[in-house]
Amino acid sequence: MKALVLAGGAGTRLRPITHTSAKQLVPVANKPVLFYGLEAIAATGITELGIVVGDTHAEIEAAVGDGSAFGLQVTYLRQDRPLGLAHAVLIARDYLGDDDFVMYLGDNFIVGGIEDVVAGFARERPAARIMLTEVGDPRQFGVAELDPDGRVIGLEEKPREPKSDLALVGVYLFTPAVHDAVAELKPSWRGELEITDAIQWLIDKGYQVESTVITGYWKDTGNVADMLEVNRLVLESLEPGVHGRVDAASELIGRVVVEPGAVVERSRIIGPAIVGPGARVTDAYIGPFTSIAAGCVVERSEIEYSILLPRASIEGVRRIEASLIGHDVEVTPAPDTPRAHRLILGDHSKVQISP
Ligand code: DAU
Repeated sequence: MKALVLAGGAGTRLRPITHTSAKQLVPVANKPVLFYGLEAIAATGITELGIVVGDTHAEIEAAVGDGSAFGLQVTYLRQDRPLGLAHAVLIARDYLGDDDFVMYLGDNFIVGGIEDVVAGFARERPAARIMLTEVGDPRQFGVAELDPDGRVIGLEEKPREPKSDLALVGVYLFTPAVHDAVAELKPSWRGELEITDAIQWLIDKGYQVESTVITGYWKDTGNVADMLEVNRLVLESLEPGVHGRVDAASELIGRVVVEPGAVVERSRIIGPAIVGPGARVTDAYIGPFTSIAAGCVVERSEIEYSILLPRASIEGVRRIEASLIGHDVEVTPAPDTPRAHRLILGDHSKVQISP
């Protein structure tokens, strides 16, 4: 069995971060969200992995390499444009050959792993197995309709009027039968080849399509609120430890990780929180659920429930919260007069200023 991870796409809901970097590499507790998926795949015993990449291929390749760090052999499959999840299967056709495979969306975050579902599929080999979970607003997802016996009878991508509250989770298991379905597809209303349509095709042709409803934690990290929420969850199970330098005037409370080379001076950090390698926290307050990446500076500032990407610096700013701050961003106070905000914001930036 092989695995296919989708790490192309545009990431419009995480702009402007995704103007310059891949959404699958946004860090959760200082580790790219994609890596959690790769670890989950490696834990199933699968070793052959194809990663579908788009415009951000160089960055993904630099981060994942040949996959040996995860115990995986990675082959990169280039998708020229994000033409849909089923299009990704189409371009992976030669790589996948006649093997069964698990398809994993690179921006999905699942707690509890996929070992059981992969093992069950390998034993029973239905044409496809999908994973479902109850969500509050199914309109943002692919939605499944089940019959009273739990069999999948219909699927719809982002329906206006969902027939259930069961959303498709971004992990799918397929036998090679899916390739016949994909070959027949036409683009949907949003111009994509939809994997939901491919699965519907299998259902319509009488193939066996099964579902597993998961109750564990799952998030599509496509937007900032979900990203912060996943960060919160992962930080909560962090093994605390000080591997950098914390001076005597600082106070660390709860689960706090200070990574090697990080320096904490005259600061108070309330966990769960992580301070990345080489970061510097001086005269600052770091509140719960905050991830500070490598090389960041937080000085004379307060921040909580936020993610800082590598080398961001926050200096002299009273309180930042619920924020996702990109690579090399600088946040500083404006001069006293005139009392005005001075902003250099990239396209699609979002700023909330407290008056
Ligand atoms: O997260 C679960 C949802 O994922 C499902 O409920 C939906 O049925 C499914 O269509 C998908 O919806 P999204 O609209 O959230 O998919 P998104 O465009 O975010 O793409 C998911 C991942 O696949 C992401 O890591 C980018 C990658 N991708 C996407 C497209 C469209 C590709 O690699 N190539 C593509 O062409």
